[in-house]
Amino acid sequence: MAFAACTKEQLPVADYDIIPQPKEVQLNEEKPFELGPKTLVYYESGLQREAQFLSEYVNDIMGYVLQMQEYQSQPDGIVLKVVPEDFDQAEAYEINITPKQVTIKGADAAGVFYGIQTLRKSLPISPIDSSQPTNQRRNDMGEPNSQLSTSNSQLTLNSKLSTLNSQLPCGTIKDYPHFAYRGMHLDPCRHFIPLDSVKVYIDMLAMHNMNQFHFHLSDDQGWRIEIKKYPELTEIGAYRNGTVIGHNGNLYDTIRHGGFYTQDELRDLIEYAAERHINIIPEIDLPGHMQAALACYPHLGCTGGPYEVWKRWGVSEDVLCAGNEETMLFVEDVLNEVMDVFPSPYIHIGGDECPKVRWEKCPKCQAKIKELGIKKDDKYSAEDYLQSYVMNRMAKVVEARGRRVIGWDEILDGNVSETAIIMSWRGTEGGIEAARKGHDVIMAPSSHLYFDYYQSEDIASEPMCIGGYLPVERVYEFQPLPEELTPEQQKHIIGVQANIWTEYIAHFWHVQYMALPRMEALTEIQWNNPQERDFDAFVERCRHMAQLYELYHYTYADHIFNPQVWADTVEANLATHKPISLRQQPAEKYTYEGASLLNDGNLGRGAYNSGRWLGFCGYPLDAIIDLEQPAEMQHVRFHALVNKGAWIYNPSQVKVLVSDDGETFREVAQKDIPISTWEDRDGIFAYEVGFEPVTAKFVEVIITGYDLPEDHSGFGNPAWIFVDEIEVE
Ligand code: ACM
Ligand code: ZN
Repeated sequence: MAFAACTKEQLPVADYDIIPQPKEVQLNEEKPFELGPKTLVYYESGLQREAQFLSEYVNDIMGYVLQMQEYQSQPDGIVLKVVPEDFDQAEAYEINITPKQVTIKGADAAGVFYGIQTLRKSLPISPIDSSQPTNQRRNDMGEPNSQLSTSNSQLTLNSKLSTLNSQLPCGTIKDYPHFAYRGMHLDPCRHFIPLDSVKVYIDMLAMHNMNQFHFHLSDDQGWRIEIKKYPELTEIGAYRNGTVIGHNGNLYDTIRHGGFYTQDELRDLIEYAAERHINIIPEIDLPGHMQAALACYPHLGCTGGPYEVWKRWGVSEDVLCAGNEETMLFVEDVLNEVMDVFPSPYIHIGGDECPKVRWEKCPKCQAKIKELGIKKDDKYSAEDYLQSYVMNRMAKVVEARGRRVIGWDEILDGNVSETAIIMSWRGTEGGIEAARKGHDVIMAPSSHLYFDYYQSEDIASEPMCIGGYLPVERVYEFQPLPEELTPEQQKHIIGVQANIWTEYIAHFWHVQYMALPRMEALTEIQWNNPQERDFDAFVERCRHMAQLYELYHYTYADHIFNPQVWADTVEANLATHKPISLRQQPAEKYTYEGASLLNDGNLGRGAYNSGRWLGFCGYPLDAIIDLEQPAEMQHVRFHALVNKGAWIYNPSQVKVLVSDDGETFREVAQKDIPISTWEDRDGIFAYEVGFEPVTAKFVEVIITGYDLPEDHSGFGNPAWIFVDEIEVE
C-alpha cells in the first residue's frame, strides 16, 4: 500500500497564486508538466547564471539539482530564453507550461529571472523535508539519497522518486512590473550588519522581485565603507565606544561596537546583487548625519570638535561645515571613491535632518553665504539655501560621471536642482511637491513604509523597536500615486521603497523579522500597484511564502496568520455611553472622536496612535461624566498606555470628585501612582481607585501626568498620558 500512496494523482501540485501576484494566469486542462530529478534546464547563451539559480532553487525546495544544458531546438524540459521583441517593457516575462515543456521567456535576463522566481514560489514545499537544512536533505547529484540510489528495488526507487516529483498545471503566465524602481533600504550604521547577512538580505529582495538595494553607508554612529584616501574613516569612524541602552537617554553600555566593509568586499557584494538583478545604491548621508566622519577629521566641522562617533540616537547638531572648502573637497573625494566602487546609476547623497544651528554661528559658513550672495526669503533661511548649494555642488560631481543623485525630501528646502531624485520619507507631501516641480520621486513614507516600526499592537510581546505602529495591513493599503497629481505628474513617481533603520535592531534575525512579511505587501505595491486590494486573499497567498521563509530559515512575523484577540469591550458600567465632557481637549492629533471615546464600552488597545486612546501632554485629563440619575458608586477604573521611548508615561495621580448638580464637586478619592522606571516594561496597564460608597449624579475624573524624569532624554518636558475607557462602578 506504500506504493499506492505515491500514485501520480497525489503528486504535489504547483500553485501560481503567489506574491507578487502574476498579472495574468491562464490555465488549461492538459496533463500537467511533471517536474522531477530528471528534468533538464536548457538555457540560451547569456542565461547560464539564471539556469543555475533555477537549479539551486529547485534543490532548496525539492531536494535535487536540475542538470543544465545550452539550448537545443524543441527540447523537453525547462527552457530559458530572452525574446525582447515579444514584450513592451523591460523585466517582463511569460511562462508557458505544456505537458512536455516549461518555457520561461523574458524581455531580458531580468525578466527570465523574475519568471524563475515565480516558478520557485509556485513549487509545493514538502512539509516532511522542510524541517531539515536544505543542503542536507539530499545529495547534490539529483539522487534521492545514497541509500536509495544503491537500492536494487525499482519499485521502491520509483515510489520514492515519485514523491520527489511535482506537477505544474499547464497554461500561460504573463507578468511585468508596475514600477521600474522597486527598492528596500538597510542601515548598517546604527548596528553593523556582517557582509554574509547583507547577502541574505539581497536574497530576500530577489525573492520579492526587487531590483534596488539602498545601502546607507554613513551616519553619526558609524562609517561603514573603506575610503582609501581617508583611512581614519574606518580606522576610527567605524567604531563607537558605547551605545545608549533602550530608549533611555542617559545610560550607555561600554561595548565597542562597529565594523566596516572593505572596497573588495563591496565589489563582491555588488556582483552578488547584480547576478540577482539588483543594483546597490550607496548612500553617503550629507551634510548632516556626519558625526562619525567628524570624529576622524574634526577640522571638517564648524567648531573643530572634538567629536566622538556618536553613542546615542537622534539627530546630531554637529554637521559638515559648508563654509570650509576643504570639507567640500573631502566630500567630493569620498563620492568619487564611492563611484569607483559602485557602478550604480543612482548615488544617494542624503540631505535629511541637517540642523543649521552650527552654520548660523560659524564664521566660515556665514562668509560662504555672503560670498554666494545667498539671501533668505519668506520660505527658506539663508542656511537652507546653503544646504542647497552643497547638494547641488555634489550633484554636479555625481552627474559628471553620468550618474544621478537621490536625496531625502528635505533637499526640496531651498533650490535643489531638478535633476535630483527625491526620496519622500516624511509622508508623501515631499514627493507630491517634488513631482509638481519636475523631479523624479521615490515614495518611501514613514507612515506606510518604515519597517523599523512595530507591526503588532501588542508591543509588550514584541522585540523592542523605535516605536510607531505599522502593521502589514497598513503597508498593503499604501497608494504610491497621489490623486493630487495629474497623470503626467504621476509619471515622475518612478518607484517605491521601504526603509529599515537599525537603532533598535542589533541582530540580523531582527532585521528579517521587521522585513517579513511586510516586504510581501511592499512587493505587491511595487510590482502590481493593484487597483483592487483584497487583504484576506493576500494573507492566503502569504501562507506559502511563510513556508518558503521557514525553508530558508528566515525569521518572520506571523501576526497576519494569528490575529491577536484583544479583549475589546468592557462590561457595561455606570459610565458607559453616558454624556461626557472634557474641561480641556486632548492634543489635536490624538483626539479622534473626542471625549466619547473614553466611555464607549471599547477598551483602549494597540499603539498610542491606534485611534483608541486620547493623548494629553502638559495638562491633566479632566473628564465629567453625567450619570443621568443619582447612582451609588465606589470605584473608578481606567487604562493607560506606557511607551517611555515615545515620551508616554503612566499617570502620576488620579482624583475622583462627585457632584449632584454638575456645578459643585467634592473630592471622594485621590491616588498617587509611582512613575514607571526603565526596569519596568512598557505596555497597557489598568488603574483603579476605590472609595467609600457615595451616591451622586455627576462624577469627575482628573488624571494627571508626570514630567519626564532625569534619566529620560526628554528630561524637563512633560510626559504624555494616553488613556482610555473610564469605568465607574
Ligand atoms: C530619515 O528617516 N531620516 C530619512
Ligand atoms: Zn561652518
